[in-house]
Amino acid sequence: MPWNPNTYLKFKTERAEPLKDLMKLVKIRPNIKVLDLGCGTGELTAELSEQLPKSEVIGIDNSSEMLEKTVKLEHPGLHFELKRIEDTDGKWDMIFSNAALHWVTDHYSLIPRLIKMLNQGGQLVAQFPSGHRNKAQKAISEVASIEPLSSTMNNWQWSFPVLETEEYAELLFSNGGSEITVYDKVYPHILQNADEVFNWISGTTMIPYLERLPESLHEPFRQKIRTRLHQIWQTRPLLYPFRRIILAATF
Ligand SMILES: C[S@@+](CC[C@H](N)C(=O)[O-])C[C@H]1O[C@@H](n2cnc3c(N)ncnc32)[C@H](O)[C@@H]1O
Repeated sequence: MPWNPNTYLKFKTERAEPLKDLMKLVKIRPNIKVLDLGCGTGELTAELSEQLPKSEVIGIDNSSEMLEKTVKLEHPGLHFELKRIEDTDGKWDMIFSNAALHWVTDHYSLIPRLIKMLNQGGQLVAQFPSGHRNKAQKAISEVASIEPLSSTMNNWQWSFPVLETEEYAELLFSNGGSEITVYDKVYPHILQNADEVFNWISGTTMIPYLERLPESLHEPFRQKIRTRLHQIWQTRPLLYPFRRIILAATF
């Protein structure tokens, strides 16, 4: 069950807001080496490349479907590679990531490892969801615990790896960070109905569950989630509050 760029790009407008907040933290410098982790379809990587003159910007992602869209964006200062965030190395002046680090486990080791990959004066800038109690996530988890879905996935549930907001400030500081910014913000997305919440999560949070279920159980799983979301959000339009952590520091 791969990432689907078209489903993901449906909520471009809503996703633009946290992006604006994140971009405000990027230190604009020329001639730097930049790594964008989980670059997806690459538009944002291209925007970074435009804002950082004469820089070498590389976007990496582990989804070949998402990367297909990046081919047309490549130019001498901008490249994309099929790679897992977990396998990255090298030395960089900026490590950037928008909406991807929550797919990687163990942030206690991930964040220090990324910091070690920065050159002196380098910057880490990242944004990722922090909604541990997000109602849609809870709905998925409830449905995944129903039989036969649960036993088919060996009782597997996505364990959300995101730490508490303050823990990121501590990690950045204890690993030599200065100019530390860490905050948590709720983005109040107004969606037309519960089906839109369903479309949103089917392009992200539902993916690891669908990857573990046989095709024959995809539709029953989807249907149960849709029903649950309609029970949770009965008004139209509805508020889908989305909490995100935004962080930056220099090392
Ligand atoms: C929500 S999208 C964000 C894409 C892009 N950064 C943006 O803001 O438009 C998350 C991306 O992370 C990628 N991803 C998830 N886990 C990953 C991993 N372990 N290594 C590399 N990429 C990963 C997915 O393939 C997807 O393209």
